[in-house]
Amino acid sequence: MNKIALAVLLTLLVVIGINNLGEIVFHEEELEANAYPVEVEMAAADTGEEAVAEEGPSLAALLASASAADGEKVFKKCKACHTAEEGGKNGTGPNLWAIVGRDKASHEGFGYSDAMTAKGGSWTYEDLDHFLTKPKDFIPGTKMAFAGLKKGTDRAELIAYLRSLSATPMDLPAVEEVAEKAAEVVDDAAEAVESEVH
Ligand code: HEC
Repeated sequence: MNKIALAVLLTLLVVIGINNLGEIVFHEEELEANAYPVEVEMAAADTGEEAVAEEGPSLAALLASASAADGEKVFKKCKACHTAEEGGKNGTGPNLWAIVGRDKASHEGFGYSDAMTAKGGSWTYEDLDHFLTKPKDFIPGTKMAFAGLKKGTDRAELIAYLRSLSATPMDLPAVEEVAEKAAEVVDDAAEAVESEVH
C-alpha cells in the first residue's frame, strides 16, 4: 500500500514539476514579447544618431560662412522663372523678394499648385534647404520644374543670397544652438531606451 501511495505521490510531483516547467518556459516567451518595444526604441535611437552623423556640417554652420555674392551667381539657375527685386513681376514662378520667413504660397497674384498651398507654414532656412535639395521630394506635386541643388554649399550660398533680398533680413540660425539641439535629441533617445530597459 505504502509503495503504491509513494508511486502516486511521485507521479503527482512529476506532473506538477512539468507544469511548473511549462510555466517557466511560458514566462520566458512572455518576456520576449515584452522586449519588442525596447527594440523599437533602440531603432529610433539609431536613426537619431545616424541623422546627426550623416548631416556633416549643419545648415547653420554652412550659412554662417556662406557669401550672398556667391549665392547671386547660383541664382542664375532660378532667373528663368523667378525675379528677385522688390515688386518684381511674377513669371513662371513667383517673385522671391523677402522669401525667407514669408508664408508659403503667399505671393499676391501668383497661382500656386494645390500641393504648395497645402504645405503650410513659412519659409524657414531649413524648409528652403530641403525644398531646394529636391523640390519634388519636399513638396510632392509642386509645379516648380527644377531638379534641385545637390551641393549643400551651393544651397547655403543661394539661401544667403535669398536672405539678403529683404529690407530686414532674418537672423541667421545660431550654430551652437543647432548642435545643442542635435545632442538633446540623441540624449532623449538614449534616455528612452534606458527607461524601457529598466
Ligand atoms: C522652371 C521654372 C523654375 C525654376 C528654374 C525655379 N523655380 Fe522656383 N518656382 C517655380 C514655380 C512654378 C513655383 C511655384 C510652385 C508651386 O506652386 O508648386 C516656384 C516656387 C518657388 C518657391 C516658393 C515660393 C513661395 O512663394 O512660396 C521658392 C522659394 C522657389 N521657387 C525658389 C527657387 C529657387 C531658389 C530656384 C533656383 C535654384 C528656383 N526656384 C528655380 C518655378 C521655378
